[in-house]
Amino acid sequence: MHQPVLLNDMLACLNVSKGKIYLDATFGGGGYSQAILEQGGQVIAIDRDQDAIDRAKHLGISCFHMTFSELESIFPDTLFDGIVFDFGVSSFQIDEAERGFSFQKDGPLDMRMGKSTISAKDVVNDLKEKDLADLIFSYGDEPRSRSIAHAICTHRQQKPFTSTLQLAQVIRSVVPSKPGFDGATLTFQAIRMYVNDELREIHHGLTYAMSHLSPLGRLVCVSFHSLEDRLVKNALKASPLTLFNKKVIIPSNAEIHANPRSRSARLRCACNNLENQHIKKFEK
Ligand SMILES: C[S@@+](CC[C@H](N)C(=O)[O-])C[C@H]1O[C@@H](n2cnc3c(N)ncnc32)[C@H](O)[C@@H]1O
Repeated sequence: MHQPVLLNDMLACLNVSKGKIYLDATFGGGGYSQAILEQGGQVIAIDRDQDAIDRAKHLGISCFHMTFSELESIFPDTLFDGIVFDFGVSSFQIDEAERGFSFQKDGPLDMRMGKSTISAKDVVNDLKEKDLADLIFSYGDEPRSRSIAHAICTHRQQKPFTSTLQLAQVIRSVVPSKPGFDGATLTFQAIRMYVNDELREIHHGLTYAMSHLSPLGRLVCVSFHSLEDRLVKNALKASPLTLFNKKVIIPSNAEIHANPRSRSARLRCACNNLENQHIKKFEK
């Protein structure tokens, strides 16, 4: 199961109204789509993962197998009353060992959410040591990136990497796990972001969203990584949209307790200028 994160905040920010049309750009387990439908909204969804598309069938909505960067070519003229992004991976993807995202269950070293051309196995076995270190540092904020890259390159000379646990063990030999923190976490995250070209995808998704909101439409973004959140924050600031919540919304302690995967979530919302005028009038 995927437990939707910040669900009530997302609904409140999106301001779902009956009959209005919403784009759920990250269908995943369908938690957000289902909640929007329950509030009377109409949903068009997308996901780059075919397994997510298959899950959408039971909701009876149109869910398209595509990436953020394909939105402009597939829906060039559509305006939405709200667009929501819930970045990152779903629990379905992490928990299924065969997908190769997990450092807790053994599986093929893959990490592709969709149709990416490279897999984690290619990255770990083929990249030069310096490039590997740079990507672990920049996408993972991992302070031991150079030592990890060195350990990976030394190991692969004897035996190329094929499985997630094989990689996790080598990383943990450099960054030992502590209670509540697995030493492989940041490096796995970095490789996943690289394999799926996640930051470029987010940039495309935000660019699309900013020009496809109806008057009064809302854009809601849930990020899990400081790089994602910074991209969202800067893009919203530079956009014609108006920030809705000045302070970023984070999960309550109760939500983090019930769903530890929510702990790094950050929600930002913006609305288009017309709504801003409306709010200003209302405040006067
Ligand atoms: C965190 S999950 C979304 C969970 C969903 N909100 C729910 O409540 O079930 C993120 C989903 O977005 C999808 N995704 C990530 N990047 C994408 C992209 N660039 N284009 C389309 N889908 C993407 C992933 O495949 C994953 O299924």
